[in-house]
Amino acid sequence: MPTSSSRSLRLLLALAFALLSTFLLASAQAGVPNKEAKPAYAEEQTMLQIEGDSVVPEPGMANAASGRVHMDRHYLGQYGATEANVIVQRGGNTWRHLRNGPFATVSGIILLAVPLLIFVFYKAVGGAQEVPPSGRRIKRFTAWERHVHWATAYSFIALAITGIIIMYGKKIMLPWMGHELFSWFAIISKYLHNFVGPVFIVCSVLMFITYLRRNFFNRNDWQWVKQGGGLVSHKHVPAGFFNAGEKAWFWLGVTLLGIVMSVTGLVLDFVTFGQTRYVLQLANYLHVAGAACYIAAAMGHIYIGTWGTPGAYQAMREGTVDEAWAQAHHAIWYEQVKNGTATDPAHRPHPDAPRGPAPRPGPAH
Ligand code: HEM
Repeated sequence: MPTSSSRSLRLLLALAFALLSTFLLASAQAGVPNKEAKPAYAEEQTMLQIEGDSVVPEPGMANAASGRVHMDRHYLGQYGATEANVIVQRGGNTWRHLRNGPFATVSGIILLAVPLLIFVFYKAVGGAQEVPPSGRRIKRFTAWERHVHWATAYSFIALAITGIIIMYGKKIMLPWMGHELFSWFAIISKYLHNFVGPVFIVCSVLMFITYLRRNFFNRNDWQWVKQGGGLVSHKHVPAGFFNAGEKAWFWLGVTLLGIVMSVTGLVLDFVTFGQTRYVLQLANYLHVAGAACYIAAAMGHIYIGTWGTPGAYQAMREGTVDEAWAQAHHAIWYEQVKNGTATDPAHRPHPDAPRGPAPRPGPAH
């Protein structure tokens, strides 16, 4: 018969064993990553709770601290010196929802709908009317103008492709190529984008300076606009060196969107100038919206410069156009070239050439 003391000993041992196995099981489980866990969500819940209880004023864009830094576990660096001590920022959640939600959806629709509309337009209406070539070529763009154009265009295409991978890669590439391959695409895209960005800015500035003089609007442009550039009627509306459509692309695309993309891109690229996370988030919204508009407009520009206007691509590739093409598409410029009054760089008179009207023959001495 077991005595009462041996029974208590066995009970104690069983209890100790149960405690030990619970502890071992718990620590073993802690070592296994929990696939269902949503750490960011949990952090945000804690954050929102603490914010709800807090009386600290709302951090804002102009504030050095764009996140709450009064929670001990967020205190990593010098308190209040920079944002280095902010791990979870409240605006981050709003930014993630807006960026992955409405911004990604609307931009995605624009990027898919525009090429589709261009294709439908091309099939339904067709490109510009072709004219029989005369066989005589005239200069339209100098080598410098073409180099500046192609450097801007190639860097733009590199930024557009890598930007789309950064923005949509996780949704459209990762599911079928897997994490390992996608991580290569993502990291290469990110670095290419970060380094090509400043190159594109330099190219855009050169582009602006090089093409500025020919892009001021004048009265002829209004006639061109009123007739819709003959895009639908297939009429050749008289235009100067550039028509109103090209000028609109210069001012709204190259200049305005160029400034938006450059400023926001620099804010995102060089994060060491003390800009807060709110400023970065705002820059990101503008960068994404600007990218969608700029890529969509560039698609229109590429269409008009290739299939839409046969003969235009050679102008920028080789620098020359057929005389008949110049007369049909840029009649006013063609006349100026013929009568020697054209002032574009390809026809600008040599600086040493005599200026002004030819001297009249004076009285004989
Ligand atoms: C004009 C052509 C450009 C286009 C079409 C473009 C497009 C994009 C797109 C779609 C994103 C992804 C945004 C996101 O995922 O939330 C992005 C990110 C970014 N862009 Fe651009 N961008 C252009 C120009 C620039 C320039 C000129 C710069 C810098 C000077 C720049 C710097 C950046 C940076 C730093 C990011 C964040 C990349 C990262 O996650 O590391 N971008 N761009």
